[in-house]
Amino acid sequence: MSSLEFNGNEIAPPPDGIQTAVRVRGVSKYFGKGEQRVAALQGVSWDVYVGQLTMIIGPSGCGKTTLLSVIAGILDADEGSVEIFGNDVTKMNDRTLTRFRAERIGFVFQQYNLLPALTSAENAAVPLVIAGWSKSRAIEKASHVLNSLGMGKKIKSMPNQLSGGQQQRVAIARALVHEPSLLVCDEPTAALDVESGRTVMNLMREAALRADRAVVVVTHDNRVFDFGDRITRMDDGHVAEVRDNVHAPAA
Ligand SMILES: Nc1ncnc2c1ncn2[C@@H]1O[C@H](COP(=O)(O)OP(=O)(O)OP(=O)(O)O)[C@@H](O)[C@H]1O
Ligand SMILES: [Mg+2]
Repeated sequence: MSSLEFNGNEIAPPPDGIQTAVRVRGVSKYFGKGEQRVAALQGVSWDVYVGQLTMIIGPSGCGKTTLLSVIAGILDADEGSVEIFGNDVTKMNDRTLTRFRAERIGFVFQQYNLLPALTSAENAAVPLVIAGWSKSRAIEKASHVLNSLGMGKKIKSMPNQLSGGQQQRVAIARALVHEPSLLVCDEPTAALDVESGRTVMNLMREAALRADRAVVVVTHDNRVFDFGDRITRMDDGHVAEVRDNVHAPAA
């Protein structure tokens, strides 16, 4: 197995012919003040490669969601820089960042964050509506993506009429609908049965394996580890190890 051992801030260059989608350098993030202060990320340097599904694993509280939120531009880093496809999101003003995020990034939150007054299809269509699509075209595209996730019969349901796993699939459809260059997902299979989990991971791999895309998935779910091309193990605000996964399904 080729293994990229990670030591402190030194980072191996990408293998020949592989481009970097996300370049994180020296990122720290602190929460709280005084005795309550928590260093959620402590000088993280880390790369995500184009055309790959990168997984992040590690114990609860080690900083996985914080790292995802920083690379998706949802949370500001206190130190360090984050480049997404060559664009430094830590230097963008709010307006540019909001637009960049809307166009290029899809995010599946650990809590699904669906809008309670919208149907499944309307929820999933939100990124397209923000991008200026007409409502009817956006709903049509969103319904198509929901269908591919086994949610065809639920496109008109409200979130409170759905199970946790169904809400999760709506959240995944919303993240995929605008075909983002970077898809980041926090525990996307946690509420799913084995078969739905595999469907979702196959869709994520499909999204990742395009030449100009990348997918990052945080998971505790050892049933889906093998869907990752690279596996990052975090521990206590650090990236402890990055290794290639020789078991990843073929492209
Ligand atoms: N908004 C916040 N305010 C204060 N502390 C926070 C906040 N968000 C995260 N933390 C702290 O930062 C650390 C990292 O949290 P994070 O949510 O990134 O962990 P995680 O690896 O995603 O955990 P889990 O697997 O349980 O989701 C934890 O110690 C957590 O308590
Ligand atoms: Mg988390």
